[in-house]
This record gives sequence, C-alpha cells and structure tokens, in this order.
Amino acid sequence: MGSLSNKRILLGVTGGIAAYKSAELIRCLQGAGAEVRVVMTPAATEFITPLTLQALSGNPVSLELLDTAAEAAMGHIELARWADLILIAPASADFIARLCHGEGGDLLSTVCLASHCTIALAPAMNKHMWESPATQSNVQQLRAQDLAIFGPAMGYQACGDIGEGRMEDPATLATMAGDLFNCGLLNGKKVVITAGPTREALDPVRYISNHSSGKMGYALATAAMEAGATTVLISGPVQLAPPERVTTIAIESAEQMLEAALQEVEDADIFIAAAAVADYRPASVAVQKIKKNNDEMLIQLVKNPDIVATVAGLAKRPLTVGFAAETENLEYYATQKLRKKNLDLVIANDVSDTSIGFNSDDNRVLLVQAGANTALPTMNKNLLAHKLIEHIAGLLKTAH
Ligand code: C5P
Repeated sequence: MGSLSNKRILLGVTGGIAAYKSAELIRCLQGAGAEVRVVMTPAATEFITPLTLQALSGNPVSLELLDTAAEAAMGHIELARWADLILIAPASADFIARLCHGEGGDLLSTVCLASHCTIALAPAMNKHMWESPATQSNVQQLRAQDLAIFGPAMGYQACGDIGEGRMEDPATLATMAGDLFNCGLLNGKKVVITAGPTREALDPVRYISNHSSGKMGYALATAAMEAGATTVLISGPVQLAPPERVTTIAIESAEQMLEAALQEVEDADIFIAAAAVADYRPASVAVQKIKKNNDEMLIQLVKNPDIVATVAGLAKRPLTVGFAAETENLEYYATQKLRKKNLDLVIANDVSDTSIGFNSDDNRVLLVQAGANTALPTMNKNLLAHKLIEHIAGLLKTAH
C-alpha cells in the first residue's frame, strides 16, 4: 500500500519531449497504489505511442473528443467523474495557455473543464518559454484557481539549454501527487465498520427495527478508504449505495452482524461500531406468518449480543470505537459506556436535538476517551467522518 492507495489518477500527456517519461510515471503512480488512465493530446502521440501507455496503464488510452466508441464507454464526462486527480505531465506551454483560457478544443482540456477534482500540472518546456511573461501569467492564474503546479525542475534541457523548465522526475511527481491527498494516514491498515439498523425477525414477513439511516457509518467507510485503509463495511438494510472501493457485507440481524464482525476483525487494526443494533430480538421466530387471532399479543424478547463489547473483549483486539446516542447526561453516559464496554473511544451525540444525529445529514459529537474529552462543532457527516478518521488514526499511532 502506498501514498496513492485507492486513488484514481487520470494522467494527461501533452506534446513535449518529456512525454517519454510518462511511461515511467505510470509505473511510479501504480507503485504508489493508484489506478491510472491516460488521455493524450494529438501532439503527445508524436512523441510516444498510445500503445506503450495503454500497455503500461492496463487501460485503453483516450485520444479523441468526438469518439462515438468512447462516448458509449468512457467519454469525457465519465473520465472527469472517474478521476480523483488529473495530473498533466508533461504540461506544454500551449496546453497551459489553453487551460488558462478555459478552451475545450480537445479531449484533455474538455475533461479538465468538466471535472471537479484536483488538477496538477508538471510543466515541461524550454527555459525561455517557461520564463516568458505569457507563461508566467498563465501559471499564476492557474495557481489562483487552486491548480497544483509541480516544478519545473532545473537542469539540462533537450534543446541544449541549462535552466528551469525540465519536467520533475517521475518518482518525485508520484510523491507530490500523494501529498495532495491528506491520505496515507491509514495506509496498510484494515478498518471494519458496522452501520445501519438491524432487523430482528418475528415471522417470515415481520421484523423489529429502527430508523437508523446508516449515513454516519457509510461516511466513515468512505473516509477510511480515502485515508488508504482496506475497508470493510458490515451494513444492515439502508437506502444508500455501497461506497466505492469498500467491501460491503450486507446483513440483517444482530447475530449475523456479530458473526461477520468476528470474522473480519481477526486481521483488523480498527473496529468502529456505528450500527444501531437492536438491543433485543424475538425469543423465537415463527415459521409461518403469525395470525391475528387474539385481541392482545405478547412477544417475548431476548437480549442481543453486544457486538462492540464482544470485539473489545477479544484477546487480540483492534482499536475499538463505539457510538453513544443519548438524550441527557451525554458525557456521563458516554464515559460509562467507554469503561463498561472497554472501548478506546466513544463518539457521543445528543439525540434530543433532532436537527442532528440519527436521520440527519449533520451531526455534533463529543469525543470521549481516557484522559481528555473533545467537543467538535456541528458539521456535515462527511466532513465529520474525515475528522473522526484523522482522530482515530492518531489514537492508533499512539497505541503502538
Ligand atoms: O449500549 P448502546 O446501544 O448505547 O451502545 C452503542 C454502541 O454500541 C454503538 O457503537 C453500537 O454500534 C454498539 N452496539 C453494538 N451491539 C449492540 C448494541 C450496541 O455493537 N448489541
């Protein structure tokens, strides 16, 4: 696992002699864990063949803007959506100028216009072209638009000049690309997360459950994946799409969730219990649909296993994190939970405030752990998930 694990990089190659280094750059990006697709401008194909870059990237190289075959498979909009980062290396003076002016005359510039992801440029050109006021002003404008500019480096140039304008070497570019993502925090680690409600069957058509949306657990799974972790999400039934690049295991009951969790935590570094597990289940499940023969009906319930406490009680346990949803005495109950369940961290939220928590997009939490507690402000669950993963990665680091 490298600094680019789980990342999708669209490598844009423009026309310049440094295009020959793109082949090695693909290898360096892949070596750091990225999946690479390549888009070439027509001028780039004069310097290196698409076949070479296709063979190295393991994916078809995209060349044409108006290509009916590509539009049916990966056209410019799909490519723009696919990428986590567009890295243009080498970036010629001409391409930089066109990008700066928002032109979309070829596939690569159109993908850049259509994309919301980070764009990084590795300029490569003769030193006088680099120093020219036009190029410098274009680069400044692109920097102001939050594009990353990698290099250029100093040294011998293909034209015989010595100076600034060489493309940064491929290994350095791969490192710079990794630094763009605040990731790598959990490289090589395995994170197991439970999410959503459980369903406890009464008969073949009825069950006991709750309103958990699963949003917090799903956001945590995405954040863990983005931090480089091999991520497993054990989920009860929810209305959310399985996160990309995460292994999602669908379960229904608490007992099934426990079984999947015990199997997955054997080699895990972190276990996060974000599921709203039903505390009780019917003592027996009727084989046939229960008939409404009587005016009253009593259902006997038995306690479900406590999944997070079971994991925390294992001899070889991962760093274990639980949630506490409380309507009063938040800090007190969360601290009790931390001790009783033998957890490393409890993420506590006050569910008496209905604008946050359970089914909402926002959440405000208190982090309860041995030593000092930390209150975080109200924020979107996705942003909170990133903050929590950062905090948990920090705990893992100090635990070892
Ligand atoms: O005890 P309580 O249900 O309030 O604890 C909440 C925390 O414990 C959550 O992290 C939840 O996912 C976890 N839990 C569990 N198994 C249960 C009940 C709760 O893992 N049976």
